[in-house]
Amino acid sequence: MVFLKSMLHGKKIIVGITGSIAAYKSIYLVRALVKAGAEVKVIMTPSSADFVSSLTLSTLSRNEVQIELFDEQSWSNHVMLGRWADIMLIAPLSCNTLAKMANGLCDNLLLAVYLSATCPVVAAPAMDEDMWHHPATKNNIEKLLSYGNKIIPVEKGDLASGLYGDGRMAEPDNIIDFLTTNFFLSSPLRGKKVVVTAGPTYEALDPVRFIGNHSSGKMGMALAKELKGKGAFVTLILGPTQIPFSEKGINLVNVTTADEMHSACISNFKDAEITIMAAAVADYAPIKKAADKIKKKEKTLVIELEKTRDILKTLGERKEKGQILVGFALETNNEEVFAKEKLIAKNADLIVLNSLKESGAGFGHDTNKITIFEKEGKEFRFENKSKSAVAKDIIDTIINLYYA
Ligand code: CTP
Repeated sequence: MVFLKSMLHGKKIIVGITGSIAAYKSIYLVRALVKAGAEVKVIMTPSSADFVSSLTLSTLSRNEVQIELFDEQSWSNHVMLGRWADIMLIAPLSCNTLAKMANGLCDNLLLAVYLSATCPVVAAPAMDEDMWHHPATKNNIEKLLSYGNKIIPVEKGDLASGLYGDGRMAEPDNIIDFLTTNFFLSSPLRGKKVVVTAGPTYEALDPVRFIGNHSSGKMGMALAKELKGKGAFVTLILGPTQIPFSEKGINLVNVTTADEMHSACISNFKDAEITIMAAAVADYAPIKKAADKIKKKEKTLVIELEKTRDILKTLGERKEKGQILVGFALETNNEEVFAKEKLIAKNADLIVLNSLKESGAGFGHDTNKITIFEKEGKEFRFENKSKSAVAKDIIDTIINLYYA
């Protein structure tokens, strides 16, 4: 994420590398950190040199790589190294080094720097699944957490043993996201709980048919990612879209019907500081869902529909001081008048209007053109942009209005 990576500029980072096959990923990690403007010094344990070359790492980090605590001529000043860094990142963290850190052993330079570091220490473990789940490893991880160190969760995938499971070191991009979000991000949204709804809802007519709409969910997904990038705790309540969504660090709640979306919103709204309703919720649902497939008989078929509950309106009624509620309005005519009416009727703080008349805006497109109306009468107009740029405009508008 470009926004997050820019936070690393000028940061001093020690990358500690231990003996694990995942050490090859540290090469990419060091390169990405340096590319993002960080100053990187690499410390390797002697056994990590069996997996990666110090020449590669010194070339990429643009600094000499240190391995030994002493050599014949000199002694490495581990105390100064630990004080130089803004952060010490150990990636990969092998089972062996984990055990030594947990117990305060000091038989190499990396451990000496760890024990004397005054900066935050973060570790990205890497090991085989069975080792990862062993109670000894769990205890050691708990000990590190109790010392105030942070652990970047392992990922699931193919392991060096040929097995598939937990234990892979987090990917370099995820490690960088973790560092920036946890240490370098000074965003007013950091740690705030945010709820976003996205996608359509489907209302079943019978076991095989439904009433739905063309919403792709792309706008809400882009909002969720932007908010996560700004350090918020995001819950994305997502209707049945064809676009797969999975993003580490975003709590995904899948729903199908307007009724399910209503329940999910109610249970997540109370402690949410910001709620953004980008979903295209069905306004009507069949009164009865046929138990069996409706057979083709008469020339015409009448299906009786009833109004669904208006979720945004319900949340507007429940909104308490300090909660920010943002609705969307998708209109085809008389856009601004309808959008402003919705802002008032639903007691929202902002309403984001997108018009189906604009080319490249609305359902399914990768771009959108919006106007934001604020309840005191302010208006913010934007050009046609990618949905991720539109998400940034919406979030920046919220920050400028309520957190500046
Ligand atoms: N919305 C909702 N619950 C519904 C219908 C809509 O929460 N049952 C929300 C949408 O997520 C959106 C806003 O209300 O944030 C406006 O939705 P829109 O479909 O444009 O308006 P409606 O209120 O449904 O009114 P109309 O269909 O008459 O335009």
